[in-house]
Amino acid sequence: MSALSITGLSKTYRDKKLQKVNALVGLDLAVAHGEVFGFLGPNGAGKSTTIKSIMGLLKPTAGTIQVFGVTAKDPESRRRIGYLPENPSFFDFMTAREYLKFVGSTYGMELSAIRNESVRVLELLDLTQAADRPIRGYSKGMVQRLGLAQALVHDPDMYILDEPMSGLDPIGRALVKDIIRDLKQRGKTIFFSTHITADVEAVCDRVGVIAKGVLESVDTVDNILEKGVVGYAIRFCRAEGAEEEQLVSREELDATLRQLLESSAVIKTVEPKRKDMESFFLSVVLRS
Ligand SMILES: Nc1ncnc2c1ncn2[C@@H]1O[C@H](COP(=O)(O)OP(=O)(O)O)[C@@H](O)[C@H]1O
Ligand SMILES: [Mg+2]
Repeated sequence: MSALSITGLSKTYRDKKLQKVNALVGLDLAVAHGEVFGFLGPNGAGKSTTIKSIMGLLKPTAGTIQVFGVTAKDPESRRRIGYLPENPSFFDFMTAREYLKFVGSTYGMELSAIRNESVRVLELLDLTQAADRPIRGYSKGMVQRLGLAQALVHDPDMYILDEPMSGLDPIGRALVKDIIRDLKQRGKTIFFSTHITADVEAVCDRVGVIAKGVLESVDTVDNILEKGVVGYAIRFCRAEGAEEEQLVSREELDATLRQLLESSAVIKTVEPKRKDMESFFLSVVLRS
C-alpha cells in the first residue's frame, strides 16, 4: 500500500465569467512510505489544487485520494499529516508559542507534550527568540518558518508542504532542506510542491513534473540526472577570427573536430554538456 495514492484526480473551477478552468486533468500518483516526492511545476500548473484536494479543503470534480489507506473525504485521514499551506497566515494577535499550543490541542496532544514539542520545533526553526512575541510583528520568512513549525508539532508520519522554501532567504532554505532530510531519516513521507528545480535536486527521491493540470513526467532524481551527457560544446577560432562555439552530438563529434582541424581552425575547448534538472524541467514544460 502506498502512503499517498491519487487516482484520476480532476478539478474544474469556474472563473469570474463562469467559464470552465480545467486546473487538474486525470492525475494519477502514488508516493511510497518514507519517500521524499517533489511536485514540480510552473505557477498555475495545479500544484495547490492537488494539495488542497489531499487536505480535503476543496472537492475534486473527479477522482479518489487515499492517505495511509484512508479516503481523503474522511477527516481521520488528516490526523497523520503535517500540512503547510501555500500562504500561511495565523491569528496574528497570538504568539508563536500560543499558536503551537492551539494547533497541538486540536490534534488532542497532552499539554506537557505540546510544551516539549513546541520547544523542540521552535528551536529547530530558529524561532525561540521570537516565540513569545505576537506573530503580527514577524517577517515573511518568520511566518513561513512558523508555518513549518506548526506542521511538525504533532510529529506526524506524512508531510504535505505547499512551496515550503518560498519567501525564505538562503539560510532559511538550507534549514528547510535539512529538516526534510532529517524527516526522511526518521522514515517520514514527504510530498512538497515547488517551482525551483534546485530544491528538488537537493532533497527528493522522485520528481513529478506538472504543467497545465497534467502530470507530464514522474521519475527518480538519479535517473533524470544520470541520463547524463546530451552533447558537446566545441569552442574554436578560425584564422584571425573571433572565438566561435558549436554544439554537436556524440556521433557528430569526431567528424566535426576533423573538419575544423582540416580547415585550420584552432580548437580551444571541447566540453561535455550535461542535462540538469533545470533543462529537464524546461523541456517537459515547454512541450506541454
Ligand atoms: N478558486 C479558483 N477559481 C478559479 N480558478 C482557480 C481557482 N484556484 C485556482 N484556479 C486556477 O487553477 C489553475 C491551477 O491553480 P493552482 O493549483 O493554484 O496552481 P499552482 O499551485 O501550481 O500555482 C490556475 O489556472 C488557477 O488560476
Ligand atoms: Mg500554488
